[in-house]
Amino acid sequence: MLEHKRFLVTAALPYANGPKHIGHLAGAYIPSDVYVRYLRSLGKDVVFVCGSDEHGTAIPNQALKEHTTPKAIIDKYHALIRDCFAQLGMSFDIYHRTSEPIHHQTSQEIFKTLYNKGLLTEEVSEQYFDVTANTFLADRYIIGTCPKCGNPNAYGDQCEKCGSTLSPRELINPRSTLSGSAPVLKATKHWYLPLQHYEAWLSDWILKSHKDDWKVNVYGQCKSWIDAGLQPRAMTRDLDWGIKVPLPDAEGKVLYVWFDAPIGYISATRALFEELSSGTKKFATPQRSFAGATADDWKKYWQDEETRLVHFVGKDNIVFHCIIFPIMLHATGEFIVPDNVPANEFMNLEGDKMSTSRGWSIEMHEYLHDFADKPDVLRYALLTNLPETKDSEFTWKDFQAKNNNELVAIFGNFVNRALVLTQKYFGNQVPAPGVFTATDDKVLAELKAFPSRIGSSLENYRFREATAHLMDLARTGNKYLAETEPWKLAKSDMPRVGSILNIALQIAANMAIVAEPFLPFTARKLRDMLQQQPGHWAQAGSATLLDFGHKLGTPGLLFEKIDDTVIEAQIKKLNDSKKSMEPASQPGQTESATPVPPAKPAISFDDFQKMDIRVGTVTKAEPVEKSKKLLKLQVDTGIDTRTVMSGIAEHFTPEGIVGKQVTLLVNLAPRKIMGVESQGMILMAADKDGTLRLLQPNEKVSAGATVS
Ligand code: MF3
Ligand code: ZN
Repeated sequence: MLEHKRFLVTAALPYANGPKHIGHLAGAYIPSDVYVRYLRSLGKDVVFVCGSDEHGTAIPNQALKEHTTPKAIIDKYHALIRDCFAQLGMSFDIYHRTSEPIHHQTSQEIFKTLYNKGLLTEEVSEQYFDVTANTFLADRYIIGTCPKCGNPNAYGDQCEKCGSTLSPRELINPRSTLSGSAPVLKATKHWYLPLQHYEAWLSDWILKSHKDDWKVNVYGQCKSWIDAGLQPRAMTRDLDWGIKVPLPDAEGKVLYVWFDAPIGYISATRALFEELSSGTKKFATPQRSFAGATADDWKKYWQDEETRLVHFVGKDNIVFHCIIFPIMLHATGEFIVPDNVPANEFMNLEGDKMSTSRGWSIEMHEYLHDFADKPDVLRYALLTNLPETKDSEFTWKDFQAKNNNELVAIFGNFVNRALVLTQKYFGNQVPAPGVFTATDDKVLAELKAFPSRIGSSLENYRFREATAHLMDLARTGNKYLAETEPWKLAKSDMPRVGSILNIALQIAANMAIVAEPFLPFTARKLRDMLQQQPGHWAQAGSATLLDFGHKLGTPGLLFEKIDDTVIEAQIKKLNDSKKSMEPASQPGQTESATPVPPAKPAISFDDFQKMDIRVGTVTKAEPVEKSKKLLKLQVDTGIDTRTVMSGIAEHFTPEGIVGKQVTLLVNLAPRKIMGVESQGMILMAADKDGTLRLLQPNEKVSAGATVS
């Protein structure tokens, strides 16, 4: 399994378009980190890379929503995600960004290599263009009526109502989400990678060579893609955000995000060795000694057959990592292809799909805000519940149970008993081992078997099973203490008590080594309590990790119980956040991070009818003394001209609003505001950031027009 000379492990580059939730952690991140920490513990030559995916339409989309620039979006979320990962113990050697020049260069080089080899085909096709916005429209920016089910708001790539996959040309009455206008077809040239030419190579590589070592879910997806026959795929897009296509006749065109993003793994590796060799540390966070590294060393990890490349991803990324990116790598003739892509399925949350936009998720930064001192509890709760073979489910109750019944009651309790008893009877020094009894021999034999049992699960990407073995080791220790009852022998047989505690402490010291990949923060605390140096996996299983007489540190608690009230508060928070979100996302907006106010209770039609809403025109506007917010307006309502005090001074100047049509509630009972009687209320739309906008008819109407 692990005979390769070196390892390059990647975790999917998250889109820097919003916060990431615990489902992402369970999909790609926690498993990859456990795997890499294990390899490091074995002393393997491993490099672990990740970073932000900062291109594609997801980024400008989010910028539109947050009323800011794409650059501001990637800067904000890159930092947020990077910091959360660090706090959760993700041990990347580098956390890079695809907006970095070295990545643009690497992506363009690979594109050029394929182009120069004549491997890309050029095709002119007609694509929808928004004349008003002067831009070609990505599929997601076009909505129209679904030809299958009649849903009037289907997207250019998919109808969310009936689930059909669509292409923009199939939509009936298409319209642009940017301007609302009907898009026109316009010819555009793109460069395609003819995936179909590589079918035979793929079959050989995946279907023959990896039938037995790839996960069933991954292999199955690949097989159905290959069996269905592959199509040419455009590697360029008409977009103004991304990496410029490095050809002379490619104005306004960028590389397809799924072309550049996986190349991000290569750029990150390059950047790592550049920083290591030059002694700078901008993105690099090396987790081991890379003594003597040179800038060219990245090539060994990407070009030498003796490197084992492993991509950790979620199931929606399988095709890109098993088919498209490997074809790109293979076609250049310069790179190795992955040895494995141990993709996970999805993790649901409390009975429903996890979704940031629907408010049904636990974001990493939210968890860390509420449980800053418990990164390992989340790691453990996710590890015991990974969606390895099918979708799984996270519940707060299960999280609590995993903490209270396993981490506290088994793992923590065992360690604590061993340490406290040693403190009590042996002045905090490791007692001498005596002559082993049959019980001792048995537990030591079990201890010896654990490291390879855990290791073999990890080598086969069975992280749940590996985690269960780890907890079994703690159980074994607990059981040993329960059987030998050293506290009862303290009066009669102190040497025997010493012998038992020596063994218990050895088990704890072994736990510090084998728990490190799973629970790195706990392992460190445990090492501190045992005053133990970081150990290698190869040392684990031994009954002589701690010498007789070794002075221990202060015993403390590794974990603490989580109360019902804490869990109930989390469940409430989740339900509240769901309620505060829109029921469906807006056209062209797939993910929204900012909640809108919750819906108000229903009212009757009669209640609505009581309101007299009219369109009027502002004829006069003046500031109000001593008020920053108010403007005093005269409004021609068609019925009369009246005074309205309106809290819009921070959003409109008096000159800016005179002459504008406004919508107002005319039968609101008059109220005195700053000494002036206000005879009505102007209706405004309040945006997420508090900006107020007038509500106006889309064409001028006569004064006094009713609104109903
Ligand atoms: N950003 C993509 C996602 O979140 C993953 C990109 S993985 C890479 O689904 F290989 F392309 F980098
Ligand atoms: Zn439909």
